[in-house]
Amino acid sequence: MIDLTPRRLLLEESYEDGEDSRHFRLRIEAPTAADLAVVPGQFFVLAVPGGGEAPFTYVSLPNAAGQFSALIRRCGALTAALFERASGSVLGYRGPFGKGWPLFLHPQQVLLVAGGCGLAPLAGLLDEASAHRLPARLSVIYGARHAATQVLGRERQRWRQAVPFIETFDAPAPGQRQGLPCAYLDELFPGQPPDALLCCGPEALMLASAEECMRRGMAPSRIWLSIERRMHCADGLCGHCYVGASYACRDGPTYRYDRYLHLLAQQAGQGSAVLPPRSCT
Ligand SMILES: Cc1cc2nc3c(=O)[nH]c(=O)nc-3n(C[C@H](O)[C@H](O)[C@H](O)COP(=O)(O)OP(=O)(O)OC[C@H]3O[C@@H](n4cnc5c(N)ncnc54)[C@H](O)[C@@H]3O)c2cc1C
Ligand code: FES
Repeated sequence: MIDLTPRRLLLEESYEDGEDSRHFRLRIEAPTAADLAVVPGQFFVLAVPGGGEAPFTYVSLPNAAGQFSALIRRCGALTAALFERASGSVLGYRGPFGKGWPLFLHPQQVLLVAGGCGLAPLAGLLDEASAHRLPARLSVIYGARHAATQVLGRERQRWRQAVPFIETFDAPAPGQRQGLPCAYLDELFPGQPPDALLCCGPEALMLASAEECMRRGMAPSRIWLSIERRMHCADGLCGHCYVGASYACRDGPTYRYDRYLHLLAQQAGQGSAVLPPRSCT
Protein backbone atom coordinates (compact mmCIF):
# COMPACT_ATOMS: atom_id res chain seq x y z
CA MET A 1 0.00 0.00 0.00
CA ILE A 2 1.29 3.48 -0.86
CA ASP A 3 1.67 5.64 2.23
CA LEU A 4 1.06 9.36 1.63
CA THR A 5 1.84 10.34 5.23
CA PRO A 6 4.77 12.78 5.38
CA ARG A 7 7.77 11.84 7.51
CA ARG A 8 9.51 14.33 9.81
CA LEU A 9 12.01 16.66 8.13
CA LEU A 10 14.07 19.26 9.99
CA LEU A 11 14.97 22.65 8.54
CA GLU A 12 18.61 22.98 9.65
CA GLU A 13 19.40 26.32 8.00
CA SER A 14 18.70 28.44 4.94
CA TYR A 15 20.30 31.35 3.10
CA GLU A 16 19.46 33.65 0.18
CA ASP A 17 20.60 32.21 -3.11
CA GLY A 18 19.30 34.29 -6.03
CA GLU A 19 16.39 36.68 -6.43
CA ASP A 20 13.38 35.40 -4.42
CA SER A 21 15.20 32.12 -3.91
CA ARG A 22 16.59 30.43 -0.80
CA HIS A 23 18.88 27.47 -0.35
CA PHE A 24 17.53 25.12 2.35
CA ARG A 25 19.61 22.60 4.24
CA LEU A 26 17.21 19.89 5.42
CA ARG A 27 17.50 16.63 7.39
CA ILE A 28 15.24 13.58 7.13
CA GLU A 29 14.84 12.45 10.74
CA ALA A 30 14.88 8.70 10.05
CA PRO A 31 16.32 8.17 6.55
CA THR A 32 15.44 4.91 4.79
CA ALA A 33 17.54 2.92 2.33
CA ALA A 34 15.56 4.56 -0.52
CA ASP A 35 16.44 8.05 0.75
CA LEU A 36 20.12 7.14 0.69
CA ALA A 37 19.88 5.80 -2.88
CA VAL A 38 18.53 9.02 -4.48
CA VAL A 39 19.99 9.80 -7.92
CA PRO A 40 20.36 13.29 -9.44
CA GLY A 41 17.13 14.45 -11.12
CA GLN A 42 14.73 12.73 -8.69
CA PHE A 43 12.44 14.80 -6.46
CA PHE A 44 10.70 14.81 -3.08
CA VAL A 45 7.46 16.31 -1.76
CA LEU A 46 7.84 18.93 0.95
CA ALA A 47 5.00 19.55 3.39
CA VAL A 48 4.84 22.82 5.28
CA PRO A 49 2.41 22.35 8.22
CA GLY A 50 -0.63 24.50 7.52
CA GLY A 51 0.77 25.48 4.11
CA GLY A 52 0.28 22.38 1.94
CA GLU A 53 2.64 20.19 -0.11
CA ALA A 54 4.69 20.66 -3.30
CA PRO A 55 7.43 18.81 -5.20
CA PHE A 56 11.06 20.00 -5.20
CA THR A 57 14.34 18.70 -6.57
CA TYR A 58 17.25 17.50 -4.47
CA VAL A 59 20.25 19.81 -4.98
CA SER A 60 22.64 17.82 -2.84
CA LEU A 61 21.57 14.21 -2.30
CA PRO A 62 20.78 12.81 1.17
CA ASN A 63 23.88 11.69 3.11
CA ALA A 64 23.99 8.93 5.74
CA ALA A 65 22.57 11.36 8.33
CA GLY A 66 19.65 12.22 6.01
CA GLN A 67 20.96 15.74 5.28
CA PHE A 68 20.36 17.21 1.83
CA SER A 69 19.62 20.59 0.28
CA ALA A 70 17.04 22.20 -1.99
CA LEU A 71 16.88 25.47 -3.89
CA ILE A 72 13.40 26.96 -3.63
CA ARG A 73 11.93 29.97 -5.35
CA ARG A 74 9.13 31.87 -3.63
CA CYS A 75 6.10 31.91 -5.92
CA GLY A 76 2.93 31.10 -3.97
CA ALA A 77 1.39 30.21 -0.61
CA LEU A 78 3.50 27.18 0.28
CA THR A 79 6.86 28.70 -0.57
CA ALA A 80 5.91 31.96 1.20
CA ALA A 81 5.04 29.93 4.34
CA LEU A 82 8.32 28.01 4.05
CA PHE A 83 10.37 31.22 3.78
CA GLU A 84 8.88 32.29 7.15
CA ARG A 85 10.14 29.16 8.94
CA ALA A 86 13.17 29.47 11.21
CA SER A 87 16.02 26.99 11.57
CA GLY A 88 14.90 24.06 13.72
CA SER A 89 11.34 24.02 12.30
CA VAL A 90 9.74 20.65 11.67
CA LEU A 91 8.47 20.06 8.13
CA GLY A 92 7.13 16.99 6.29
CA TYR A 93 8.82 14.85 3.64
CA ARG A 94 7.70 12.22 1.14
CA GLY A 95 9.99 10.63 -1.37
CA PRO A 96 12.13 9.97 -3.23
CA PHE A 97 10.06 10.07 -6.41
CA GLY A 98 10.50 9.90 -10.18
CA LYS A 99 13.28 8.96 -12.54
CA GLY A 100 16.62 10.71 -12.47
CA TRP A 101 19.03 11.58 -15.27
CA PRO A 102 20.54 8.68 -17.26
CA LEU A 103 23.78 7.21 -15.98
CA PHE A 104 26.66 7.82 -18.36
CA LEU A 105 28.95 4.89 -17.70
CA HIS A 106 31.36 5.50 -20.60
CA PRO A 107 33.76 8.38 -21.17
CA GLN A 108 31.79 10.78 -23.36
CA GLN A 109 31.07 14.49 -23.71
CA VAL A 110 27.79 15.49 -22.06
CA LEU A 111 26.46 19.03 -22.34
CA LEU A 112 24.19 20.39 -19.59
CA VAL A 113 22.01 23.36 -20.54
CA ALA A 114 20.12 25.06 -17.71
CA GLY A 115 17.97 28.16 -17.39
CA GLY A 116 17.32 30.00 -14.09
CA CYS A 117 16.60 27.59 -11.25
CA GLY A 118 16.63 24.77 -13.81
CA LEU A 119 20.24 24.43 -12.66
CA ALA A 120 18.99 22.74 -9.45
CA PRO A 121 18.09 19.29 -10.87
CA LEU A 122 21.50 19.13 -12.59
CA ALA A 123 23.45 19.98 -9.40
CA GLY A 124 23.87 16.38 -8.24
CA LEU A 125 25.48 15.42 -11.56
CA LEU A 126 27.84 18.38 -11.41
CA ASP A 127 28.89 17.42 -7.88
CA GLU A 128 29.61 13.88 -9.07
CA ALA A 129 31.70 15.22 -11.96
CA SER A 130 33.56 17.66 -9.69
CA ALA A 131 34.48 14.79 -7.38
CA HIS A 132 35.70 12.79 -10.43
CA ARG A 133 33.12 10.06 -9.79
CA LEU A 134 31.66 10.23 -13.34
CA PRO A 135 33.35 8.68 -16.36
CA ALA A 136 31.56 11.25 -18.58
CA ARG A 137 33.04 14.73 -19.14
CA LEU A 138 30.45 17.40 -18.41
CA SER A 139 30.24 20.96 -19.77
CA VAL A 140 27.62 23.53 -18.78
CA ILE A 141 25.88 26.47 -20.40
CA TYR A 142 23.77 28.30 -17.85
CA GLY A 143 21.37 31.07 -18.88
CA ALA A 144 19.67 33.61 -16.63
CA ARG A 145 17.76 36.87 -17.11
CA HIS A 146 20.47 38.83 -15.28
CA ALA A 147 23.09 38.14 -12.61
CA ALA A 148 20.70 38.60 -9.67
CA THR A 149 18.45 35.80 -10.94
CA GLN A 150 21.28 33.25 -11.02
CA VAL A 151 21.05 30.56 -8.34
CA LEU A 152 23.46 28.17 -6.59
CA GLY A 153 26.16 30.84 -6.22
CA ARG A 154 28.43 28.82 -3.90
CA GLU A 155 28.13 25.69 -6.04
CA ARG A 156 28.85 27.60 -9.26
CA GLN A 157 32.12 28.87 -7.80
CA ARG A 158 33.15 25.26 -7.18
CA TRP A 159 31.90 23.90 -10.52
CA ARG A 160 33.70 26.62 -12.53
CA GLN A 161 37.00 25.13 -11.26
CA ALA A 162 35.98 21.59 -12.27
CA VAL A 163 34.18 21.77 -15.65
CA PRO A 164 33.84 24.16 -18.61
CA PHE A 165 31.08 26.48 -17.40
CA ILE A 166 29.60 29.23 -19.62
CA GLU A 167 27.14 31.76 -18.18
CA THR A 168 24.82 33.79 -20.43
CA PHE A 169 22.32 36.57 -19.72
CA ASP A 170 19.28 38.15 -21.34
CA ALA A 171 20.38 41.48 -19.83
CA PRO A 172 24.15 41.22 -19.35
CA ALA A 173 26.40 43.59 -17.45
CA PRO A 174 29.46 44.83 -19.42
CA GLY A 175 31.80 41.92 -20.16
CA GLN A 176 29.13 39.23 -19.71
CA ARG A 177 27.82 37.03 -22.54
CA GLN A 178 24.44 37.97 -24.00
CA GLY A 179 21.85 35.68 -25.56
CA LEU A 180 20.39 32.21 -25.43
CA PRO A 181 22.65 29.46 -24.04
CA CYS A 182 22.51 27.48 -27.30
CA ALA A 183 24.14 30.42 -29.14
CA TYR A 184 27.37 29.41 -27.35
CA LEU A 185 27.38 25.74 -28.37
CA ASP A 186 30.23 26.22 -30.84
CA GLU A 187 32.41 27.80 -28.16
CA LEU A 188 32.45 24.47 -26.33
CA PHE A 189 31.98 22.09 -29.25
CA PRO A 190 33.33 23.59 -32.48
CA GLY A 191 32.60 21.40 -35.50
CA GLN A 192 30.62 18.58 -33.93
CA PRO A 193 28.01 18.25 -31.19
CA PRO A 194 28.57 16.65 -27.78
CA ASP A 195 27.60 12.99 -27.32
CA ALA A 196 24.54 13.81 -25.21
CA LEU A 197 22.51 16.79 -24.00
CA LEU A 198 20.66 17.20 -20.69
CA CYS A 199 18.35 20.25 -20.37
CA CYS A 200 16.34 21.84 -17.61
CA GLY A 201 14.64 25.23 -17.70
CA PRO A 202 11.93 27.05 -19.62
CA GLU A 203 10.29 25.06 -22.42
CA ALA A 204 11.57 27.45 -25.12
CA LEU A 205 15.15 27.10 -23.89
CA MET A 206 14.99 23.31 -23.80
CA LEU A 207 13.46 23.04 -27.28
CA ALA A 208 15.90 25.54 -28.81
CA SER A 209 18.87 23.69 -27.27
CA ALA A 210 17.58 20.35 -28.53
CA GLU A 211 17.03 21.77 -32.03
CA GLU A 212 20.54 23.27 -32.15
CA CYS A 213 22.14 19.97 -31.17
CA MET A 214 20.02 18.01 -33.65
CA ARG A 215 20.92 20.50 -36.40
CA ARG A 216 24.56 19.57 -35.68
CA GLY A 217 23.77 15.85 -36.03
CA MET A 218 22.77 14.70 -32.55
CA ALA A 219 20.04 12.03 -32.46
CA PRO A 220 16.92 12.92 -30.40
CA SER A 221 17.54 9.75 -28.40
CA ARG A 222 20.72 11.42 -27.01
CA ILE A 223 18.74 14.30 -25.47
CA TRP A 224 16.99 14.34 -22.09
CA LEU A 225 14.72 17.00 -20.57
CA SER A 226 13.42 17.53 -17.05
CA ILE A 227 9.84 18.76 -17.16
CA GLU A 228 7.39 20.21 -14.64
CA ARG A 229 3.76 19.24 -14.20
CA ARG A 230 1.22 20.00 -11.50
CA MET A 231 1.60 17.13 -9.01
CA HIS A 232 -0.47 16.04 -6.07
CA CYS A 233 0.19 12.45 -4.94
CA ALA A 234 3.57 12.22 -6.77
CA ASP A 235 3.15 8.45 -6.84
CA GLY A 236 0.96 7.51 -9.80
CA LEU A 237 -2.40 7.67 -7.98
CA CYS A 238 -4.19 10.89 -8.86
CA GLY A 239 -3.46 11.46 -12.57
CA HIS A 240 -2.77 15.19 -12.18
CA CYS A 241 0.57 14.87 -13.94
CA TYR A 242 -0.38 12.92 -17.10
CA VAL A 243 1.81 13.40 -20.18
CA GLY A 244 0.03 11.23 -22.76
CA ALA A 245 -0.10 7.75 -21.25
CA SER A 246 2.69 8.54 -18.82
CA TYR A 247 2.74 9.90 -15.28
CA ALA A 248 5.37 12.64 -14.99
CA CYS A 249 5.72 11.84 -11.27
CA ARG A 250 6.65 8.20 -11.86
CA ASP A 251 7.92 7.98 -15.46
CA GLY A 252 9.50 11.48 -15.37
CA PRO A 253 10.33 14.20 -14.56
CA THR A 254 13.30 13.37 -16.82
CA TYR A 255 12.25 12.17 -20.27
CA ARG A 256 14.25 11.21 -23.33
CA TYR A 257 13.40 13.82 -25.96
CA ASP A 258 12.06 11.43 -28.63
CA ARG A 259 9.81 9.72 -26.04
CA TYR A 260 8.61 13.06 -24.71
CA LEU A 261 7.63 14.27 -28.20
CA HIS A 262 5.78 10.99 -28.75
CA LEU A 263 3.89 11.43 -25.46
CA LEU A 264 2.94 15.02 -26.34
CA ALA A 265 1.63 13.84 -29.74
CA GLN A 266 -0.29 11.06 -27.99
CA GLN A 267 -1.80 13.59 -25.57
CA ALA A 268 -2.75 15.99 -28.36
CA GLY A 269 -4.38 13.04 -30.20
CA GLN A 270 -6.45 12.29 -27.09
CA GLY A 271 -7.71 15.86 -27.22
CA SER A 272 -6.55 16.68 -23.69
CA ALA A 273 -4.97 20.03 -23.03
CA VAL A 274 -1.20 20.06 -22.87
CA LEU A 275 -0.09 22.07 -19.87
CA PRO A 276 3.22 23.53 -20.96
CA PRO A 277 6.13 22.68 -18.71
CA ARG A 278 6.71 25.59 -16.37
CA SER A 279 10.04 26.84 -15.19
CA CYS A 280 10.77 29.09 -12.29
CA THR A 281 13.00 31.48 -14.24
C1 LIG B 1 9.25 17.53 -10.26
C2 LIG B 1 9.23 18.97 -9.81
C3 LIG B 1 10.36 19.53 -9.23
C4 LIG B 1 10.36 20.86 -8.80
N1 LIG B 1 11.49 21.36 -8.23
C5 LIG B 1 11.51 22.64 -7.80
C6 LIG B 1 12.68 23.18 -7.19
O1 LIG B 1 13.70 22.49 -7.01
N2 LIG B 1 12.63 24.47 -6.77
C7 LIG B 1 11.50 25.26 -6.93
O2 LIG B 1 11.53 26.43 -6.52
N3 LIG B 1 10.39 24.78 -7.52
C8 LIG B 1 10.36 23.49 -7.95
N4 LIG B 1 9.20 22.98 -8.51
C9 LIG B 1 8.02 23.84 -8.61
C10 LIG B 1 7.25 23.86 -7.28
O3 LIG B 1 6.77 22.58 -6.94
C11 LIG B 1 6.07 24.82 -7.43
O4 LIG B 1 6.53 26.10 -7.74
C12 LIG B 1 5.18 24.85 -6.17
O5 LIG B 1 3.84 24.78 -6.60
C13 LIG B 1 5.29 26.11 -5.36
O6 LIG B 1 4.22 26.09 -4.40
P1 LIG B 1 3.49 27.44 -3.95
O7 LIG B 1 2.29 27.06 -3.13
O8 LIG B 1 4.49 28.33 -3.31
O9 LIG B 1 3.05 28.09 -5.28
P2 LIG B 1 1.66 27.81 -6.06
O10 LIG B 1 0.61 28.68 -5.44
O11 LIG B 1 1.41 26.33 -6.14
O12 LIG B 1 2.06 28.31 -7.49
C14 LIG B 1 2.31 29.66 -7.82
C15 LIG B 1 2.02 29.84 -9.28
O13 LIG B 1 2.75 28.89 -10.08
C16 LIG B 1 1.85 28.04 -10.81
N5 LIG B 1 2.42 26.67 -10.77
C17 LIG B 1 2.97 26.08 -9.69
N6 LIG B 1 3.44 24.86 -9.99
C18 LIG B 1 3.18 24.66 -11.29
C19 LIG B 1 3.43 23.59 -12.19
N7 LIG B 1 4.08 22.46 -11.81
N8 LIG B 1 3.02 23.74 -13.46
C20 LIG B 1 2.38 24.85 -13.86
N9 LIG B 1 2.13 25.92 -13.06
C21 LIG B 1 2.52 25.82 -11.79
C22 LIG B 1 0.53 28.15 -10.09
O14 LIG B 1 -0.57 27.94 -10.97
C23 LIG B 1 0.56 29.58 -9.62
O15 LIG B 1 0.22 30.47 -10.65
C24 LIG B 1 9.19 21.66 -8.96
C25 LIG B 1 8.05 21.11 -9.57
C26 LIG B 1 8.07 19.79 -10.00
C27 LIG B 1 6.84 19.21 -10.64
S1 FES C 1 0.96 13.44 -9.25
FE1 FES C 1 -0.61 11.98 -8.88
S2 FES C 1 -0.34 10.60 -10.53
FE2 FES C 1 1.36 11.96 -10.73
